[in-house]
Amino acid sequence: MIKQPEPRVVLVSGSPRRNGNSDALLKAAREGIKSQGVPAETVFLRDYVYQPCTGCEECRKAKTCTQFNDGMTLLYPKIEAARGLVLACPTHNYNVTSWMKSFIDRLYCYYDFTDSRPRKWSSRLAGQGRKAVLMGICEQEGKSDMGFVIEAMQFPFTALGYEVIHMHRVYKVFDRGLVRKQPDVLEQARRFGASLAESIK
Ligand SMILES: Cc1cc2nc3c(=O)[nH]c(=O)nc-3n(C[C@H](O)[C@H](O)[C@H](O)COP(=O)(O)O)c2cc1C
Repeated sequence: MIKQPEPRVVLVSGSPRRNGNSDALLKAAREGIKSQGVPAETVFLRDYVYQPCTGCEECRKAKTCTQFNDGMTLLYPKIEAARGLVLACPTHNYNVTSWMKSFIDRLYCYYDFTDSRPRKWSSRLAGQGRKAVLMGICEQEGKSDMGFVIEAMQFPFTALGYEVIHMHRVYKVFDRGLVRKQPDVLEQARRFGASLAESIK
């Protein structure tokens, strides 16, 4: 049983680039969250050392990852405790970065599976009022250039039991932090942050 989450938000950057566009968008979202008086913490996945999921399936019994004691061990309690989640990730080859993908795969330990065939599954994070905002960033101009970035976060976090309340697709930003010169885009991130905070209070 996972404890009921608190009205707080964890913001997760999937970018390897310090002070890049994902980080700038998260900063704006965090300002919006703070404006609602809701506590927030930003984690930069690049600062954590963690392995990709090996598919050992031991977590089915243990209900936690027993394969590794690594950066994810520090992140699990933060994710569990926060009702709100903001994910920002640049597009790397039409998809999320390897940091974000491995982070998502390591959340597999929150699923319960039945022994029936085909297996039924449920998430221990579900039914707790968890909500998420997703942000995807890319250099090119069109939806196809961003590939699966938003969906690669939306599908798994919906399956984990989050209600995705906003998706922010940000195009045409390549240089580090260029999005800081786009006040409308930052303002949208701020508004999404404030809306998320309000919805989980
Ligand atoms: C390895 C790599 C792959 C990329 N692939 C794409 C892509 O498929 N489509 C795109 O529009 N931009 C692509 N980009 C550009 C980044 O998404 C863009 O520069 C973004 O602003 C980086 O965000 P960040 O500053 O938060 O890291 C790629 C960049 C890198 C380094």
